Order: sequence, then structure tokens, then C-alpha cells
Amino acid sequence: MNYAIKTEDLSKIYSMGEVEVEALKDVSIDIEKGEFVSIMGPSGSGKSTLMHLIGLLDDPSSGEITVDGTNTSSMTEDEKSEFRLEKIGFVFQFYSLLKGFNSLEQVYLPLTLDGVPDSEAKERAREALEKVGLSDRMKHSPDELSGGQRQRVAVARALAGEPEILLADESTSQLDTEVSEKMMQLYRDLAEQGQTVITVNHEKELGKEADRVIWLEDGELSEFPEK
Ligand SMILES: Nc1ncnc2c1ncn2[C@@H]1O[C@H](COP(=O)(O)OP(=O)(O)OP(=O)(O)O)[C@@H](O)[C@H]1O
Ligand SMILES: [Mg+2]
Repeated sequence: MNYAIKTEDLSKIYSMGEVEVEALKDVSIDIEKGEFVSIMGPSGSGKSTLMHLIGLLDDPSSGEITVDGTNTSSMTEDEKSEFRLEKIGFVFQFYSLLKGFNSLEQVYLPLTLDGVPDSEAKERAREALEKVGLSDRMKHSPDELSGGQRQRVAVARALAGEPEILLADESTSQLDTEVSEKMMQLYRDLAEQGQTVITVNHEKELGKEADRVIWLEDGELSEFPEK
């Protein structure tokens, strides 16, 4: 089977002077293409660390990551960056929107920076904004949008890169429940259209809306606690 993501015995140790934090321990997971997965677990359990590794933003201390059938272990940093641009779309809270640019510009400008011709970039941006239900907000700047709409612009920006895998690590504490629920519905719609989606969720009720929950506890895979 050609998985979107396959990790084998992934471990991550952060060294802080004398102290070592074992943030992930031997995590082996398979995520199928088109699957919608929620990574959950207590604060500090390693969710963001796992997302960073899957997104090739950081290197594991040991273990292997295969993305879309390609083992990334022996890639150079440059190869990894290129591969990341091609395969992965990020919706991370810290990727804030650019002040003073409208929704269409937020989505198409990064594409032109990647060398996509202007007209194609705009077309892809329009399609992505349509997918997230913002066709009627293309000319609005972030301060003229609701929190949920802003978040959807960030999703459209990730989608416009036509990623194989969409990674969303939104600390839910920064979004209200209604917005978070709508985001999960959006991810579900995208997954139904074939997009592989991996989210981090903090509330159990939200995570249950995914096809599958990957539960982490102290950096290790564990059973999803029903209570
Ligand atoms: N850059 C870093 N340097 C040192 N330790 C780190 C670093 N990043 C994370 N850690 C530690 O690794 C562990 C896992 O952190 P991680 O950010 O993955 O947790 P999380 O599950 O995303 O938590 P939260 O729900 O609070 O976002 C924590 O104990 C954290 O303190
Ligand atoms: Mg986190």
C-alpha cells in the first residue's frame, strides 16, 4: 500500500544542556492517502513534535519517515525543503496572515514567490478560496474577516500549493468551539475529496470527527481513553 505517511520507530530527544526531554518514543504510524486523522493527547505529550517531524520541519533523533512512498532519511536539507514544498501544506497558528493584503493576495502571493506564473497563481488561489467557502471574501483583508474566516484563508493558502498532505496544528485554545467545529467539517469535506488531512485537536469531541484518532501519552502511542 502506498501510504501518505509512514513512520518507523520515530524518536525525538531535545537536549537542554544537562537535561534531556524524550518528546517522542518509538512512534510507528501509517496514514493512508485520503485519510483524515486527528492527533490527540495531553499537553506536552508530543503532538506538535510529531507534526513537525511529519512535516519535515525538524529531524528525528532516530527512526524513519516515509512521505508519499519516499523515504526521507537520506535527503539533504535542500532536498527536504523542496520535497516539503511539493508535498506538504501547513496550517499552523504561527503562520499568521500578512497585514494589509486581501484574501486573494494572501493565497496567491506565496505561489508567485515559488515561481508559479501570476495568472495561474491567481486561478489556483481562487479555486482554493472557493473550496473553503470564501469566494465572496476575496477582496477582504484579515481585519475585515472573522476569526474563522481568517483561519479558512490560512487553509486556502495551504491548499493552493496542491499538497499531498495537509497538516493543521491549531492550538484550539485560540479558536472558539464553534470555529473549531467548522474547521473540522471543512477538513472532513476536503478528505472526502481525497485530501489527506492530519490535525491536532485538544478536545475529544472534536477529534472524534476524524476517521481515526492517534493518541499520544508522554511521547508514546497509547489507547484513546473513552472517558
Ligand atoms: N524545542 C524544544 N526544546 C526542548 N524541549 C521541547 C521543545 N519542543 C518541545 N519540547 C518538549 O517536548 C515535549 C513535547 O512537546 P510538544 O510541543 O510536542 O507537546 P504538545 O503535545 O504539542 O503539547 P500542547 O498540547 O501543549 O501543544 C514537552 O515536554 C516539551 O516541553
Ligand atoms: Mg502543541
